[in-house]
Amino acid sequence: MASWIRSGVVTAALACAALQATPTWAQEALHGDPVHGKAISYTCLGCHGIPGYRNAFPNYSVPKLEGQHPEYIVAALQAYKNGERSHMTMHSQAASLSEQDMADIAVFFAGKALQASAPAAAANHPPAAAALCVACHGADGVGVVPQYPTLAGQHQDYLVRELAEYKNGGRRNAVMAGMANQVKDADADAIAAYYSSLKPSLQTLERPLTFLSSTH
Ligand code: HEC
Ligand code: HEC
Repeated sequence: MASWIRSGVVTAALACAALQATPTWAQEALHGDPVHGKAISYTCLGCHGIPGYRNAFPNYSVPKLEGQHPEYIVAALQAYKNGERSHMTMHSQAASLSEQDMADIAVFFAGKALQASAPAAAANHPPAAAALCVACHGADGVGVVPQYPTLAGQHQDYLVRELAEYKNGGRRNAVMAGMANQVKDADADAIAAYYSSLKPSLQTLERPLTFLSSTH
């Protein structure tokens, strides 16, 4: 029993060490051109440029992208393109994008990506059910490496919806399937409420269809 507990502690310590060791590769910058990204993102703005816009069937909020890690935005677009995430509209949106287009769009939408803040994180009190989650999504809701999505300020109903998608296979990410399967429905609401309340927060910038009136 005692040795089981001790080995659990060792495993946790190793996991922390691994996370702290990641910044070397995590800091590799994504090379995207936000000007080209803006030029090719006009179809996206019909949904992602309108604060509070909702997916109709089923009804849930379109995710906020401003402040997100651009590396994660690229990974998400690839997942829609290759079918790991099943969402018809996002599949057809992503299918025609090259890798460079994805990088360009990602830096355009991400803008100034939120950065993890150690002091703010210490002041946060995640619900007990989120104990597993903070290792990757941070107590301040900022993904600890650029491939882990930032959840701070994301729409609560979107977070609940996607946890369910990882459980039911609509999203087939192996890491998150394992995590989501451990979350009870009642806890999913509490975790989503916590992450969506955090500031600094992801945002949806009002982006009226500037491509119609602007040449730059
Ligand atoms: C018709 C509305 C609509 C359009 C147009 C649209 N999206 Fe989406 N987008 C959505 C919805 C709804 C989701 C959530 C899908 C899901 O449940 O996985 C989403 C999800 C995403 C995500 C995943 C965000 C996350 O946190 O995982 C990214 C990135 C994204 N869209 C980028 C784009 C880009 C880039 C374009 C244009 C090329 C675009 N979208 C066009 C509605 C739209
Ligand atoms: C080992 C790291 C790790 C842990 C621990 C983890 N996640 Fe994730 N999470 C990820 C990754 C990676 C993704 C992106 C998966 C994908 O491509 O769909 C993700 C995606 C998500 C998303 C979708 C975000 C979006 O913008 O669409 C939600 C919601 C989420 N996680 C919640 C949680 C919750 C709640 C927990 C704890 C029960 C948790 N995660 C634990 C790594 C992790």
